[in-house]
Amino acid sequence: MTAPQETSFADLGKVLVIIPTYNEIENVERIVSRVRAAVPEVHVLVADDNSPDGTGEAADKIAKEDGNVHVMHRKGKEGLGAAYLAGFRWGIDNGYDVLVEMDADGSHQPEELYRLLTALRGADLVLGSRWVPGGKVVNWPKSRLMLSRGGSTYSRLMLGVPIRDVTGGYRAFRKETLLGLGMDQVASAGYCFQVDLAFRSVSSGFKVAEVPITFVEREHGASKMSKNIVVEALWRVTVWGVQARLGKLTGKKRK
Ligand code: GDD
Ligand code: MN
Repeated sequence: MTAPQETSFADLGKVLVIIPTYNEIENVERIVSRVRAAVPEVHVLVADDNSPDGTGEAADKIAKEDGNVHVMHRKGKEGLGAAYLAGFRWGIDNGYDVLVEMDADGSHQPEELYRLLTALRGADLVLGSRWVPGGKVVNWPKSRLMLSRGGSTYSRLMLGVPIRDVTGGYRAFRKETLLGLGMDQVASAGYCFQVDLAFRSVSSGFKVAEVPITFVEREHGASKMSKNIVVEALWRVTVWGVQARLGKLTGKKRK
């Protein structure tokens, strides 16, 4: 699948695709070149947590060849959320107007990026969604499907957000959305970072749109999903849900 050739998103401003990496040596080159081919006008930032497998050095090589690819070297593995926050800050400081989240392992297809950017013309945040009509997941074991659907449903009900895929990690933010949702107070480290940002966007009154994507499970390397990540998500979502309900009773908002 390729994006229409005539596509231009210049009206949205400068677009930066942030790709967090931890041990993605088999994937980093391919994902960056797919992004650059699918929507040539977007720039890429690889945010590497000092991967022992040499992903950071591989990204440096790509950046040497392509001036629109940048690399952020972080000191160690601090979680996906922390890597994205640092990437967002770098992007905003360097004049980007749209910040995109994308996994390195090919699960988020660069060829579908134009859908997110097109929808961003009428929204403040666009989520690539597996759980809206037209959305799909390819090659996930049943256990992971249940975890994801369950996590999304629990979060939606607990937090009262009208979003089908609240944990997904393929997203496009306008810079104003990130600045307005209180990015600097986000403490979530693992994947609940995604729920955190979606919830904050809705609570701050931003317009959130979902577009269908086909999520393809990785072929190379391993997922970094762990029990700790699930426990953090469950714990935090429950606390936010209780706080939101208490806030409604007492008129106080969550910090
Ligand atoms: N820099 C950095 N630091 N990158 C990380 C870290 C980290 O600590 N942990 C994971 N990543 C990177 C991976 O290298 C990959 O590019 C991306 O973040 C996603 O990690 P995966 O391990 O492939 O995640 P997943 O496939 O299990 O989960 C995906 O789906 C979840 C929803 O079901 C991700 O898109 C999650 O964001 C999403 O919540
Ligand atoms: Mn993955």
